[in-house]
Amino acid sequence: MRVTVISGGTDGMGRGTLEARLRRGDEVIAIGSNPAKGQAVQALSDRVHFLQADLSSVAATRKVIDTIKERWPKIDALALFANRQSPKRTVTAEGLEQTFALYYLSRYLLSHGLREQLDAAERPVIVNVAGVGITKGSIHWDDLQLAQKYGMVDAQLQAGRANDLLGVDFAERSGSRARYVLYHPGFTRSGDLSTMPAAIRGLIRAASVFAKPVEKSIHPIVEWIEKPPSDALTASNQGKPVPLSTKTLDPADARRLGTMTDELLARLTADQGS
Ligand SMILES: NC(=O)c1ccc[n+]([C@@H]2O[C@H](COP(=O)([O-])OP(=O)(O)OC[C@H]3O[C@@H](n4cnc5c(N)ncnc54)[C@H](OP(=O)(O)O)[C@@H]3O)[C@@H](O)[C@H]2O)c1
Repeated sequence: MRVTVISGGTDGMGRGTLEARLRRGDEVIAIGSNPAKGQAVQALSDRVHFLQADLSSVAATRKVIDTIKERWPKIDALALFANRQSPKRTVTAEGLEQTFALYYLSRYLLSHGLREQLDAAERPVIVNVAGVGITKGSIHWDDLQLAQKYGMVDAQLQAGRANDLLGVDFAERSGSRARYVLYHPGFTRSGDLSTMPAAIRGLIRAASVFAKPVEKSIHPIVEWIEKPPSDALTASNQGKPVPLSTKTLDPADARRLGTMTDELLARLTADQGS
């Protein structure tokens, strides 16, 4: 039986992927922060395991990784969806900007933290669902936590780009057999709008008639989990390949961000130990 771990597997495209993989016979581990949503997915089958964790916390993410490692020695697929919009700059208890922590750092920790379990599988794959192919936005190298100037869209674009670079760096440096897929689903009829100001929520709801249904957006993800690509790194913007030579996938930037992330995590570990 294939084992699939899904961060943000309780709602939207993550939940859609969970249901589709259940139909294909997988055992699925869903991570989310809301226990009620967790109970709802757990009720679908005894092959669903819900692990509650606030993935904007490094400590909580490390804890959930440890739980997975203890219970599942082999993982075939890791699919990364968890994200939430933060209209105002929010700082976590660990001193990190929330979007950076949740949308990027949790995916970095899960990708690297579950490496051994992925490498124990025959054809392991990681699918990181973000915004590959988007050229707007940038990494704020001197201010990753956006302390000097914050905007919700800017924070989303930065963390999305950081995920692009995570994929590049993982494929280059991790030594893992897991194939890494970066996927931009395009505008989809999913997404928790509850944190948004009412006016923006209304605009997005009105525009959602043009959005794709979840089933359509997740179709390639479900197939990559079934049959991982042969290349170490694949980038797809709504089914269209993103050339790996694209500036947003620059290997030097990927290395630089990987190093900065390792340093940041080491500082955090030292602080938490003191
Ligand atoms: N929808 C679109 O149009 C679109 C377009 C391009 C890219 N994307 C990207 O696709 C991915 C999935 O989007 P979606 O629309 O499917 O999202 P969604 O419906 O809002 O689902 C988000 C998932 O993340 C979980 N989550 C949020 N905060 C969490 C936290 N602190 N800790 C643990 N889990 C948390 C949620 O569970 P809980 O509520 O239980 O925490 C939920 O399962 C995102 O990365 C998004 O940026 C979406």
